[in-house]
Amino acid sequence: MIHSWRGQRKYMLNEYKILTVTHKHVRLERIGDFLITHSTDEELKTKLANLKDKFNLEELLYISTCNRVIYLYKSSRELNLNFLEQFFQTVNPTLSTDYIQRIITGYEGKEAINHFYEVAASIDSLVVGEREILRQIREGFNRCNQWNLVGDGIRLLMKHVVEASKEVYAQTRIGEKQISVVSLAIRKLLESNISKEARILLVGAGQTNSLVSKFLVKYEFKNITVFNRSIEKAEKLAARFDSNAFLLTDLESYSEGFDCMIVCTGATKAIIKTPLYKKINGTDTTEKLIVDLSIPNNVARNVVEDFNINYIEIEDLKQLAEQNLAFRKKEVGKAKSLLVQQINEFQKVFQQRQITKALQNVPSEIKAIKQKAMNEVFKKDLDALDDNTKALFEKMMTYMEKKCISVPMKAAKELIA
Ligand SMILES: NC(=O)c1ccc[n+]([C@@H]2O[C@H](COP(=O)([O-])OP(=O)(O)OC[C@H]3O[C@@H](n4cnc5c(N)ncnc54)[C@H](OP(=O)(O)O)[C@@H]3O)[C@@H](O)[C@H]2O)c1
Repeated sequence: MIHSWRGQRKYMLNEYKILTVTHKHVRLERIGDFLITHSTDEELKTKLANLKDKFNLEELLYISTCNRVIYLYKSSRELNLNFLEQFFQTVNPTLSTDYIQRIITGYEGKEAINHFYEVAASIDSLVVGEREILRQIREGFNRCNQWNLVGDGIRLLMKHVVEASKEVYAQTRIGEKQISVVSLAIRKLLESNISKEARILLVGAGQTNSLVSKFLVKYEFKNITVFNRSIEKAEKLAARFDSNAFLLTDLESYSEGFDCMIVCTGATKAIIKTPLYKKINGTDTTEKLIVDLSIPNNVARNVVEDFNINYIEIEDLKQLAEQNLAFRKKEVGKAKSLLVQQINEFQKVFQQRQITKALQNVPSEIKAIKQKAMNEVFKKDLDALDDNTKALFEKMMTYMEKKCISVPMKAAKELIA
């Protein structure tokens, strides 16, 4: 469903557009349908570049976090249902028109800018005030910037969004108490009364499981085995527990048994499927605790349904997150007021940038007019003059050239001020 469809023409901000799916409107597992599936960064880069070319987007920023996916782009093309359908059927050809229209939220112009500021300042997060979101946005931006998918417009926006988010964290208490998706997941894990001696398999060794591991150390869990696609990161995490590290591919031959599995990788498809789970679990029928922090979920749904599993996923953390929101509601109001000022500031800077761009050719164009006047249009008349008059004439033309350049520049400065 399209929740927001408002746009505004002012200063061409309307070229900024966002297509998004967030925890606010769908169960988190649905977000996976709208992600770009990929096995390597190279594949993601190619798919994003193709998307940008196919829809003739000026710039494209792709951000996928644990509670949303964002396609932020710049284009003068109208954002309508037809575009939505074509865009997401390119992302995922199995999606139906009806499903796309029901799930996607579109923002344009000032609405898109507002939304992006609120996301980065963590006002719109599952766990309001969680700083992880800014890190994830920056990482997404750095990647798209490196891949030449974004240009001046999104770079400018990003710079201001980061500054505004820092301002919100500094001026409000929104980020106090350091609550995060990971800390809430750990709270749930502890509530399950799992023993400190439990055999825990940590699957994935990225930023999130690195945070998880800090909590595991804090709560004195000792029996941890780490699996990851690349061995270096697995070894780094395992060193925190003085434990063993393996490649993800070794998981199927792992026969030591386990009590708990914490799964969190960047894989865009389930990696713990029935055949693999059967191999790891063997004939053990006792209940296992599985914490799946990946979006999309990395543990296949039928594994959760068919085996004796106490399953914790990010979706289950919503209720805990809402209690956290109640605590921070007052701060959200303050943060929004701060953002209004910051967004107005961005609008001014954006306008300034547009005018600068529009005027950047003025000096060379006026110079060219002067040259043409002297070397072509009035050449014969000038040649008929004596040297002194000619020099005076040229001096006057140079004076006029400078003045003609300064008039629009001055007018633009007054307009922006
Ligand atoms: N950051 C948060 O606060 C947060 C919270 C909850 C959930 N999440 C979710 O957690 C997931 C991972 O996020 P992250 O911040 O930890 O990412 P990250 O730092 O980029 O780490 C990604 C991890 O996943 C592995 N990986 C990537 N693609 C893979 C694939 N196709 N197959 C197997 N392993 C793969 C990587 O292995 P290599 O080391 O070999 O690259 C790395 O260990 C995402 O779904 C994210 O939405 C994040």
